[in-house]
Amino acid sequence: MIIDRTRVLRTPRLVLRTFEQGDLDSLHAIRSREDVNRYLYSSPLSRDETAAKLSTRIEQHSTLAEPGDTLLLAVALRGPDGEAGEVIGDVNLEWQHGDHRQAEVGYVLHPEHAGRGFATEATRPLIDLAFTELGVHRVCGRLDGRNAASARVLEKLGMRREAHLRENEYVKGEWTDEVVYAVLVREWEGAASL
Ligand SMILES: CC(C)(COP(=O)(O)OP(=O)(O)OC[C@H]1O[C@@H](n2cnc3c(N)ncnc32)[C@H](O)[C@@H]1OP(=O)(O)O)[C@@H](O)C(=O)NCCC(=O)NCCS
Repeated sequence: MIIDRTRVLRTPRLVLRTFEQGDLDSLHAIRSREDVNRYLYSSPLSRDETAAKLSTRIEQHSTLAEPGDTLLLAVALRGPDGEAGEVIGDVNLEWQHGDHRQAEVGYVLHPEHAGRGFATEATRPLIDLAFTELGVHRVCGRLDGRNAASARVLEKLGMRREAHLRENEYVKGEWTDEVVYAVLVREWEGAASL
């Protein structure tokens, strides 16, 4: 087991921890919003749908043991004691199947906490973990071509814009563009040593 439920990641302002049943209100406050879902594959969730999503996260996405696993962590503000406080979003790391040593990151933040660098700060340790502990060769991020805030997050993380695919997906009743960003392990290590 590389990551289990006991693992907590800390950044200067945030604590990343696995989800718990007590996170239902916080998760629903985010996932029920129209604006949050605008450029996601999902639509606003009912409370029951959020509860089902939370259970899946707890049961299936709290550990990383082998390629094919996806880790989904709650992003909490660090309280005065340094411990996890209010949950303001989530980040995920998908360790992809196969021999190619690839991974993908994703993130969702409550709009009330947007624009303060939290998504960038929360995603950095997951990329680091992918390279240093999973032995991944390349980490990517994919987004709707209109999602400028998400593109900016990946640029701030040092990722390269590799592709802009024109209307390659049909999402929620419309053709959408997909943009792909990525960083290689040597680029990540090179940036860290600067
Ligand atoms: C995308 C998202 C995660 C960004 O979270 P965040 O905590 O605000 O991100 P950060 O503060 O780390 O960085 C956001 C950057 O985008 C910029 N930005 C925000 N809105 C923008 C817009 N409409 N156009 C261009 N840039 C924008 C911010 O200014 C900031 O850049 P800066 O630090 O250079 O000023 C958040 O808006 C979100 O959860 N959206 C809904 C879910 C989603 O779309 N997730 C991504 C799926 S790919």
